[in-house]
Amino acid sequence: MAVGKDTIWERFLQPVVRLFIDEPALRRFYDSVDWEKESDRFRNPTLTIPSYYSSQNFHGIQKGYLNPGAAVSYDPITQYVLAPNETWVRQSLIDAIRCKPKRILDLGCGTATTTLMLKQAFPEAEVIGLDLSPYMLVMAEHKAEKVQRNIQFKHGNAEQTGFPDGYFDLVTASLLFHETPPAVSQAILKESFRLLKTGGEVAILDGNQKTLRQTDWLNEIFEEPYIKAYASGNLDAWMGSAGFEAVQTTDVWLIHQVTQGVKPIAGEATRNSAARSRFHAPDTTDLGEDLEGFPAPAFGTMA
Ligand SMILES: C[S@@+](CC[C@H](N)C(=O)[O-])C[C@H]1O[C@@H](n2cnc3c(N)ncnc32)[C@H](O)[C@@H]1O
Repeated sequence: MAVGKDTIWERFLQPVVRLFIDEPALRRFYDSVDWEKESDRFRNPTLTIPSYYSSQNFHGIQKGYLNPGAAVSYDPITQYVLAPNETWVRQSLIDAIRCKPKRILDLGCGTATTTLMLKQAFPEAEVIGLDLSPYMLVMAEHKAEKVQRNIQFKHGNAEQTGFPDGYFDLVTASLLFHETPPAVSQAILKESFRLLKTGGEVAILDGNQKTLRQTDWLNEIFEEPYIKAYASGNLDAWMGSAGFEAVQTTDVWLIHQVTQGVKPIAGEATRNSAARSRFHAPDTTDLGEDLEGFPAPAFGTMA
């Protein structure tokens, strides 16, 4: 896929955002890290990187998150694109959590901004962040060390994490699902269900699917290969299909949403499955092409 050269982001917004970003400082940081050596500490040699991930550019960056430049520019840009305020938006996921988790897995943790907030909210919990990009994990660990938070980072695929059944009380994902094809999102939800203890919770923060379906123009801004498919899908329905109960989506500042659910006890799941198939909204993934939009983080090229 060619790098987008004419998006609204590249023509108008990137030059404006650049005014607020200390690019020389980012460049110095980028040059100060031996990215290959540092990322080798995380790299899992048995991991197969899925083609949906390695074959696409994300946010106009060649090789997407498999480019260390993405890891360096992610936070400085995300703070401006996660309206109206990055911390408030991320806090909505933390606020939705009802349990007091002992073990937490943050899928697609990226540079660990939400992972760190989880550790702050639940300091006694063992917190693990998992991501497909070893470069994002280098940044994540750097941030965690800076604030002296003990978080483990694992190079892995959220579709197949390798953790045992029922290992976690809470599984989270922030800003992951608008970047994965719907079939992958559904596989990740099934994996989350497997990983949770009975009564465990899943909480997902991402773009608001209802809003995205009505705002085609937003999709012109950033290069997001799977966002149209995400917008036309229905996360509640995907959660129901994965086996979750008490599924609920809450709008967050109209352009985001938090979707949460609970892993029921086995008998409950069977009893409720008929009700689930009656009441869950249809998945409109197939409507596809004409539903688009969501201003996900976008990046300038660093490497
Ligand atoms: C938009 S970033 C979100 C990062 C972080 N959660 C946040 O809230 O800022 C999406 C992240 O998901 C990761 N990712 C995408 N697909 C994945 C998968 N199948 N398994 C694990 N991580 C994945 C990417 O490498 C990237 O770091």
